[in-house]
This record gives sequence, structure tokens and C-alpha cells, in this order.
Amino acid sequence: MCGIVGYIGKQKDIRIGLEALRRLEYRGYDSAGMAVYNADAKTIHSLKAVGRVVNLEQRLKEVSFEGSPFLFYTRWATHGGVTEENCHPHSDCKNSVWVVHNGIIENYRELKEKLQQEGHAFHSETDTEVIPHLIERFFEGNLEEAVRKMLGLIRGSFALGIISKDDPEKLVVVRNSAPLLIGVGENEYLVASDPSAIVSQTKKVMYLEDGEMASLTPERCLIEDINHHAVRKAIHEIDWSVEDAQKGGYSHFMLKEIMEQPESITNALRGRVLPDTGEARFGGLSVVRERLRSIKRISITACGTAYYAGLVGRYMLEEYTGLPCEADVASEFRYRRPIVKDDTAFLFISQSGETADTLAALREVKKKGGLTLGIINVTGSSVARETDAGIYNHAGPEIGVASTKAFTSQLTILALLTLLLGRQREMSLADGQVVTRELQRIPDLVKQILEQREKIKEIAEKYKHAENFLFIGRKYNYPVALEGALKLKEISYIHAEGYGAGEMKHGPIALIDEQFPTIALCPQDSVYEKMVSNIQEIKARKGPVIAITNEGNGGMKEIADDVIFVPRTIEMLNPILMVIPLQLFAYFIGVARGYDVDKPRNLAKSVTVE
Ligand code: AGP
Ligand code: GLU
Repeated sequence: MCGIVGYIGKQKDIRIGLEALRRLEYRGYDSAGMAVYNADAKTIHSLKAVGRVVNLEQRLKEVSFEGSPFLFYTRWATHGGVTEENCHPHSDCKNSVWVVHNGIIENYRELKEKLQQEGHAFHSETDTEVIPHLIERFFEGNLEEAVRKMLGLIRGSFALGIISKDDPEKLVVVRNSAPLLIGVGENEYLVASDPSAIVSQTKKVMYLEDGEMASLTPERCLIEDINHHAVRKAIHEIDWSVEDAQKGGYSHFMLKEIMEQPESITNALRGRVLPDTGEARFGGLSVVRERLRSIKRISITACGTAYYAGLVGRYMLEEYTGLPCEADVASEFRYRRPIVKDDTAFLFISQSGETADTLAALREVKKKGGLTLGIINVTGSSVARETDAGIYNHAGPEIGVASTKAFTSQLTILALLTLLLGRQREMSLADGQVVTRELQRIPDLVKQILEQREKIKEIAEKYKHAENFLFIGRKYNYPVALEGALKLKEISYIHAEGYGAGEMKHGPIALIDEQFPTIALCPQDSVYEKMVSNIQEIKARKGPVIAITNEGNGGMKEIADDVIFVPRTIEMLNPILMVIPLQLFAYFIGVARGYDVDKPRNLAKSVTVE
């Protein structure tokens, strides 16, 4: 996700745009760019810089750009590395039409090929650059008419800001599966990815819906829907502070990112699920796709939450691909004598792509000539650049130190990778179609769980004074128990342990008493009865139990003290659903205990030192 700012009106001072862009940096910050129409010169000036917005600001001090309309942009790269050429705005062959884009154009490859055959010259590796060239193809003097025709050809997610020196009194914006709003001023309009960018200029906003396009001049705003019918918009008054607005109105980035998971999981799936053949595809693995057919073993290495995702992935891959799979914490892997052979794929999972232990483990494998793959959220990060091939989460920046949306995105991608490798081997068409169908349901199922957050908050507040917690699960939910314990530790500083439920009788049950609550992950899966026995063993020792089980399993209320119900799905995807209540539980206890849940003590978002 990136940051978009646009302006059209009487002011000619582009510093408005720069100030607004600074407030969107949390949305993406690998590079920044701008374009402004100057009526005297009858041309559009543009400037870009790799790195933070301050680098663009330094470049702008060397020039004296002014004018209206203008576009400002901060990038979160998905297609094409972090370079000036790839930064937006992108223009057509005549440098007439300039575009900024948040999202992914899924069918850009075929569009780009056709445009190149028509003679259009491209200067970037991005998916975005097809947009100005398509508008150029259709432009006959009216910008919004050409935009409409372009929209009929592109597929994917896109919030767009568009200006043209050949129709200069207009700023055209489009929203489709990526946020964009319009700020209303006196004979001026601003557009932005979120209210925080413009709240210092105006508190009056109109929110665009998916499929809507707005054509703005200083005097008027025309909005139409996907069928080109005029749309009248209510004007809302923002009552947030700038800081609040960056959190989208949520109290903390952590809660915002928990609530974003239906969208981030959708982004992980976008363009990668093939329901008809029950398969998955990754553009980032195309260079190694044939080599993956011949691998005989998988090794997964990561740290913290990413490691727990890897543990879930190990269950998935072994069950559906028949390949032996191991998972290791990077800080151990790097000091073992790992066996590196040609028949093994080494998978490194990292949200930041900069974790020192993970990077060191990766370099150890590369030194020995091993095949290295990555699942990374930050485009252009070290792990992304140094692996032989990889898959981006497209989850958008994760600001909260406690990893939430990255975890469920990693699980989603591991399920897709299981599909790809499984269907290259014994996994049947029928099994593959079940998994693809269930994967496409997951965003809505997550949304249903998030709607229970008030109930989960009540349960969390009931246990906020506990000084110890046990999390137990089996099979796919054993790693989720570890992750739930980590979340609670990180956010509330309560001592919490995750355990395989089968291990209770080998020691941990000695801890249980009325002051030692347990969260039991017990969906009605292949090990459900075993989990019920473990819960009963705990109850026999007066230990409080919070059970997370499936909707309709009312009997659990007779066994556990508190029950949270989640929708049903297939066993391998249960971890994506089971972890949501644990994220919310940790968040609400941390808040109830008065801690800074976005910046917990002693922790850093990316552990770039050993
Ligand atoms: C998770 O909530 C923690 N912030 C931490 O364990 C994190 O998962 C770990 O440091 C790995 O980070 P990475 O995914 O960026 O490599
Ligand atoms: N897909 C576009 C790119 O990689 C936009 C990414 C974004 O939303 O920041 O440049």
C-alpha cells in the first residue's frame, strides 16, 4: 500500500502536498515522487527520490516548482525494485498524462506487451506504467473519457490520481479496492489515501467507494459509479487528530492491522489462486518453478512469529506434498552444520526482510549453493534481494511491533505454496479445489471473527490480572498456541507459555491451579477429542479455561469457563482463524493494563542485530 496526495485549486504552493505526503509515510516509504502542472510553462514538472519523503523534499529545494493541479506519492513497491525510475508518478510517451497508483494491476503483463507492440516506450518495471500509456491511447482531449476507457481494460486493485497537461484544469481520481478520499475546500479539492494527509487543510471529506471515479476542477466535483451513473456524496466532518487519522480512527496501529486482515489476506491471494485446476501460481517463483518439481525436502527458517508461521507450514507441506519438511529458528540454524543439498528448497520467512538471524542463515545456505526462497512483506529488503526467488505478502507496512497481519498473510502464502508443490506431486484435483475454495472464503470468515471483538474484549478484561497463562493446541494449532503466547508476552508482559497439549502430562500440568488460566485451541478437527481430554484434565485441577472452538459446538460451554466460537474451515486453514481471537485477546489485555501496545518495552519492529 502506498500514499497518494492530490490537489486542484487556487493555491500554487506545492508545499501543501509535501506536508500531506509526510503524514502518509507510514503507508509506504521506499521512494517518493511528485508532478505539478505549471500554467505559465504549459507543462508538467516531475521529481522523484529513492528513500524517505525527506529525500524528495531535499530535491525540491533545488527547484522552484509551483502550480495546480499536483500529485504527490510515497511508494510501497510491489512490482519493480526500489528505484527512481520505478517510483510514481508515471507518464505516457508524450509526458502529457501523469499517474500515481496504489495497488496491483494483475493483467499488466499482457497490456504492456500489446502497448509495446503499438510502439509505446516504457521506462519502468512497474505494473502501474501501463495506465498512462492506455490513457494516451484513448485521449482525444477529455481526460475522464480516456480514463473511463482505460478502466475497461485493467484488472486488480487501484486507487489512482491522474493529471494531464492537455486537459490541465482537471484532477481525475479512481478508487477500486484501495482507499481514496476527497477533501472539500473553498474552490479547491484535495485527494488522499487517508484523512491524516489533509486534515490540516480541511476536515470536510467525501469517501469514494470501489468502482467510483471523480473528475475534479477548482469549481466542481463530478463523481460517477462503475456504470457511469452520477453519484451524490455526503460530506463528512473528520473529528480525528492527525495521529488518530493515520491509524484510520483506531486507537493503535496494532488494532488497525488486526482489523485489516480480511484485506491483507485478500491481497496475499490476489491473482495467485486457480480454483478450476485447484492450483496456485506465484510470479516470483516462475524462475524456479520447474526446479521445484524435483526437490525432495524443504527447510523453513525464520524468527519469532514468522517461525511459528513456518511451523504451521511444515504441517501443511508434509500433509499435502509428501515432502519431508523441517522448520528451525534462524538463530539456531545459523550455528548448526545445516545439510545443504541440491534436492532441498530452503524457505526463509520474514516480514521485515532485515532480521539479522534470518539473513545470516540465508547467507550460510547460499554459501553452500542451496536453493533459497523467501516469503517477505517489505519489497526490496535484504532477504528479498538475496534469495533466489520469492513471494511478497502485499500486506502493506506493519507498524505495530507485534506481528499480526503479516502472520496470517504468511499462513495464506504457505497454503498457496502447499497447493503449488502438492499439485506438482500427489495432491488430487479434488483436494486442490477444496483448498482453493476454502482459501477464497477465509477473508469473510476472518471478518466474522473480528465482529466478535467486543466479546473478546470482555473476556480479556476478566483475565487482565493473571500473572501467568498457558496456551495449548495440537497439530496445526500447536504453533498457533506458541504464537498466542508470544503475542500475550509481547503486549501485556504476562508470563505466557505455548505448549503442545499432549505435553501437559509431561510436566506443565504441575503449574495448574485457580490462578493459572489456559487458552485451549480446540476446533472440531482430527485431534478434537484429545483436546477435550486435556481441557478436562485442567478443569479437574481447578484451572480456568478459555476455549476457542467452532460455531455450533455448544457443548464446550459445559466444559470451559469461557468460549469463543470461530467459523469452520478445513483443518490446514484453521490456524488463520484460530489466531484472530488470540491477537485481540493480547491487544485488549495490553490496553487494559495500560501499556503502549504499538511500542512494547524492550522490543524493536525489526531485529537487525544478532
Ligand atoms: C512478533 O510479534 C515479533 N515482533 C517478532 O517475533 C518478529 O516476528 C521476529 O522478530 C521476526 O521478524 P521478521 O518477520 O521481520 O523477520
Ligand atoms: N504496484 C505499484 C508499484 O509497485 C504500486 C505499489 C503501491 O501500492 O505502492 O509501483
